[in-house]
Amino acid sequence: MSVESSSRPVTATGTPAPRTPSPVTGGLPGLGHGWKLARDPLGFLSGLRDHGDVVRLRLGPKTVYAVTTPALTGALLTSPDYIVGGPLWEALEGLLGKQGVATNNGPTHRRQRRTIQPAFRLDAIPGYAAVMEEEAHALAGRWRPGDTVDCTAESFRVAVRITARCLLRGDFMDERAERLSVALATVFRGMYRRMVLSCGPLYRLPLPANRRFDRALADLHRLVDEIVAERRASGLRPDDLLTALLEAEDDDGNPIGEQEIHDQVVAIVTPGSETVASTVMWILHALAEHPEHGERVSEEVESVAGGRPVAFDDIGKLTHTNNVVVEAMRVRPAVWILTRRATTDTELGGYRIPAGADIVYSPYAIQRDPRSYERNLEFDPDRWLPERAQDVPKYAMSPFSVGNRKCPSDHFSMAQLSLITAAVARRWRFEQVPRSEDVTRVGITLRPKRLLLRAVPR
Ligand code: HEM
Repeated sequence: MSVESSSRPVTATGTPAPRTPSPVTGGLPGLGHGWKLARDPLGFLSGLRDHGDVVRLRLGPKTVYAVTTPALTGALLTSPDYIVGGPLWEALEGLLGKQGVATNNGPTHRRQRRTIQPAFRLDAIPGYAAVMEEEAHALAGRWRPGDTVDCTAESFRVAVRITARCLLRGDFMDERAERLSVALATVFRGMYRRMVLSCGPLYRLPLPANRRFDRALADLHRLVDEIVAERRASGLRPDDLLTALLEAEDDDGNPIGEQEIHDQVVAIVTPGSETVASTVMWILHALAEHPEHGERVSEEVESVAGGRPVAFDDIGKLTHTNNVVVEAMRVRPAVWILTRRATTDTELGGYRIPAGADIVYSPYAIQRDPRSYERNLEFDPDRWLPERAQDVPKYAMSPFSVGNRKCPSDHFSMAQLSLITAAVARRWRFEQVPRSEDVTRVGITLRPKRLLLRAVPR
């Protein structure tokens, strides 16, 4: 979809020379487009597609490039000319640690991926079936008819418990998972603000919100230290991610350091909990907004599982349930913005990208683009039926990203999301209650501001 022009200058080899991406109009002196991005990030990023395939914005004094087509996001993510880097990642490192897999690049990143990958491989997922089933049914079984469900708390709890119990196995995780979810919810609230508004001194003032944030962040790091120390003291070596991290070696064959183990656990538990929790909230929201799909999920579960509780082994047969999950992730993706940094002078779709440039794109904008999806804003799980899904352009639905930074947890996440959706929709219908605020809250992930739903038995 790149714009081609016959009048472009050509290089010595006869190929058209890369062109400079067009500037986006409407920046303010000094602030550039920063104020638009801060005021209405989703609207602003979605509107960029009208300015071109690759465009130039100004955020304060800095020029930033934005990519707006599925094909070019794929090209960006799979090119060796870009690394993870830029303000988003620097802020994350400052808060979560510098030695985790999510923020490292090059050989260290490759080594770290090799360590964690086995825990997420497709053939490792059935090993998590019992915990996933237990947690999905525990969630659906917690509510009484007519209860008002605080979807934020419930979604965080189930996401943290599954990640922690599957990947950092141990009985102690039952109690720790509760503490982790409380700490994470506060950390994530404050973290986004710190990432977009870098007012360092302001965050050091002894204000209640800052104190709460500092306490929660300290608690998160303390919890991770406790988990690691207890595992060591137990002398146990279960076949899990924590054992893999504790036994990992660096490129010289030496054990990796304590800090790296700590940062790695944080780098896995943190994104794992926030993304799954946000997605569960949007699935519950979709079940409330579209009761007909909740009904279809329930009927599907009934036809596959009969009277018994839905099980991990049923997931492959739950077509509509899976399509509800995917469609919820399309319309309301947890990860709505991603960035890369160019390591060299390069080009993308015929546009010149200088070394050191930050490039941004929005999975939210890509997944709601009317050029890729008919009735793009409509919640329509049937668009993922095979005969229709084949019309979706490549990279127009990549909520787990692609390339060497692709989320290692795509199978792990999809299995738990489908199981949770099936278990919950089989037992409950949901109704919005008056105090519920389902507007989209833009933070590190997208989620409803304060979703409260009444649980009505089926
Ligand atoms: C990376 C999405 C669940 C761990 C990513 C990336 C995306 C993503 C888009 C790539 C970022 C980039 O390209 O820059 C999601 C979504 C999830 C989910 C939508 C659930 C709905 C999880 C879970 C875990 C996890 C459950 C762990 C338990 C990670 C890690 C990375 C990552 C460690 C960094 C990978 C690397 O840089 O090599 N995730 N994720 N994610 N995710 Fe997930």
